[in-house]
Amino acid sequence: MEKLKQKISIIGCGNIGKAIGKGLIESKIIVPNRLTVTRRKTEALKELFAEMGVNVTSDNNEAVKKSSIVIIAVTPQKLNRILEEIKDNLNTGKHIIISIVTGAEIEDIKEIVEKDIPVVRVMPNTAISIKESMTCISADKKDEDALKTAVKIFDTVGKTAVISEDLMVPATSLVACGIAFFLRAIRAAGQGGTEIGFHADDAIMMAAQTAKGAASLLVDGGSHPEREIDKVTTPQGLTISGLNQMEHHGFSSAMITGIVSSAQRAETIFKKNK
Ligand SMILES: NC(=O)c1ccc[n+]([C@@H]2O[C@H](COP(=O)([O-])OP(=O)(O)OC[C@H]3O[C@@H](n4cnc5c(N)ncnc54)[C@H](OP(=O)(O)O)[C@@H]3O)[C@@H](O)[C@H]2O)c1
Repeated sequence: MEKLKQKISIIGCGNIGKAIGKGLIESKIIVPNRLTVTRRKTEALKELFAEMGVNVTSDNNEAVKKSSIVIIAVTPQKLNRILEEIKDNLNTGKHIIISIVTGAEIEDIKEIVEKDIPVVRVMPNTAISIKESMTCISADKKDEDALKTAVKIFDTVGKTAVISEDLMVPATSLVACGIAFFLRAIRAAGQGGTEIGFHADDAIMMAAQTAKGAASLLVDGGSHPEREIDKVTTPQGLTISGLNQMEHHGFSSAMITGIVSSAQRAETIFKKNK
């Protein structure tokens, strides 16, 4: 793995910030002492990060000064305050901002920063901690170099897709909330497994590995779901019987409406917060 030349800071290292930090260290794209992570309650970071040699601080400006790639992972309500706090230490030509903050538009961030600092908007999911994120990335055309840097970073912790900025909010539903949707599907399969005779822990593991195999047929094998389904649905067979029962009970419809509902809610929440 070619190491990144720049130093990175993660401002607001909560759930997703921790997952990103852990993933980046595990991917070896950065050595621990070139990463700085912040939050106000630093004790919550010491156990995981300080032992690895990552710099842990509650001083956001110290983190910004120490790094050139500034990943902002605070909640949307905190974003403007953080930008106001650090903007004097952001330098054109040195820094790029990578915002993980859901709903925050590139233009709004640039407006607060008031300097020519490239801003890349990124939407990963928590599987980033095990280098299996699906990460959507967007930037203005003129910030292509910063976009490439972000793609290079996030390619080491899963798969990336560069998308247009107007799809970033819908992407929240599919990739960030999506983790919960698929976990619930696996839990449901585990419950079915228990009812047909397996111990709950075994049933979940069997369901999870089966889900992982199914996903890998598409991600690694480049196949399409229906092509793979056709291979296991013999006429009058067991699989088609189960599959059709699931469809009669609204399986596909539940997933589709769930994804659309989360995307619509995201759209409403982020418009309201603007
Ligand atoms: N969780 C996900 O799966 C996910 C996925 C994609 C995007 N996102 C987005 O990522 C952002 C963070 O989400 P999250 O789930 O990680 O939230 P979170 O766990 O609440 O993390 C936010 C962190 O910011 C810290 N913080 C608050 N004020 C701060 C300040 N003044 N200086 C430094 N740190 C400060 C908080 O710690 P202290 O209170 O100790 O300061 C907290 O740990 C959100 O905008 C979310 O929409 C989340």
